[in-house]
Amino acid sequence: MFVVTGAGGRTGRAAALHLLAAGYRVRAVGRSAQRLADLAARGAEVWEADPLDPAALTDAFRGAEGIYAVIQPNYIPDHPDFGAFQDQVAASLTTAVTESGVTRVVGLSSWGARHPEGTGPVMGLHRFEQRLSAVPGVDTLWLRAGYFMENLLTHVHTARAHHRISAPFDPDLPLPFVTTPDIGGRAAAELATGTWHGTEVLELQGEREVSMREAVGVIAKAVRADDLTYEQTSLADFHAELRSNGVSVNVADMMAEVGEAVNSRHTRMEQPRTGRTSTPTSIERFAEEEFAPRYRAA
Ligand SMILES: NC(=O)c1ccc[n+]([C@@H]2O[C@H](COP(=O)([O-])OP(=O)(O)OC[C@H]3O[C@@H](n4cnc5c(N)ncnc54)[C@H](OP(=O)(O)O)[C@@H]3O)[C@@H](O)[C@H]2O)c1
Repeated sequence: MFVVTGAGGRTGRAAALHLLAAGYRVRAVGRSAQRLADLAARGAEVWEADPLDPAALTDAFRGAEGIYAVIQPNYIPDHPDFGAFQDQVAASLTTAVTESGVTRVVGLSSWGARHPEGTGPVMGLHRFEQRLSAVPGVDTLWLRAGYFMENLLTHVHTARAHHRISAPFDPDLPLPFVTTPDIGGRAAAELATGTWHGTEVLELQGEREVSMREAVGVIAKAVRADDLTYEQTSLADFHAELRSNGVSVNVADMMAEVGEAVNSRHTRMEQPRTGRTSTPTSIERFAEEEFAPRYRAA
């Protein structure tokens, strides 16, 4: 039996679906059984546990052959200290791994997690890696995923209303765009085979590297909007826009730091591109199947 934490979220849900489809028993963990009902319908054992409750997670992990460990969500926009939240969830997951006796973990991390500083929310994932990897007798594989294609979905409304997509990234910098279903699928496959020993890092680099300018061009084609363009915003304007949308100073600082880290290549992929570091979904497919339907509905 495999335990999937964050099963209500994007990568967790995908991991659970892949494991179920492959015939494994799955315990799907989330804060609300209601939000896991579709996984229950496909045969998952649904288990309510708050990620901030180590005792509840310990119970959830007992008897598992392996677990998928994820800190969700990406951001809590109005949180005054999001890093502290990440540390609490990381501590809870680590206690539960230790206490339950689980020996195989696939954890979701991020490109840039090698660095302790200067990477925004990825610093919390660096600390998560350090903390959980210190538990003795556990084989832990860290999936350091690239930039989620789903981040582009936050631009659907401005794309439709203002014919532009703006972000702080250098327009021509190649980015390792990857989808969350591909990450979940890879997590499931690695969890099931368990071919690594000790602590290992595997970068997930996507189908190919794509710049923001190219990504927006692909989206423009998919939504048939020739005048849709990419505009790089300054970090100061990006920060101000987040603040005007109710994002806390702490989270806005972190998000701006992501822009700075990516543009300076402080955050970058480091492993060679191979079959194992690549994932299948192209930006073209994502634009057609995920972005375009939302754009048309906006
Ligand atoms: N965005 C990127 O480009 C990127 C790149 C690399 C790595 N990452 C990492 O990927 C992880 C996110 O994974 P994901 O995409 O699978 O997650 P996700 O889909 O963003 O997680 C959403 C889930 O988080 C839970 N949630 C929402 N608000 C919450 C709150 N206030 N407190 C606690 N839980 C809350 C909810 O699940 P329940 O209500 O069911 O509990 C929700 O379904 C993060 O650690 C992020 O740093 C992101």
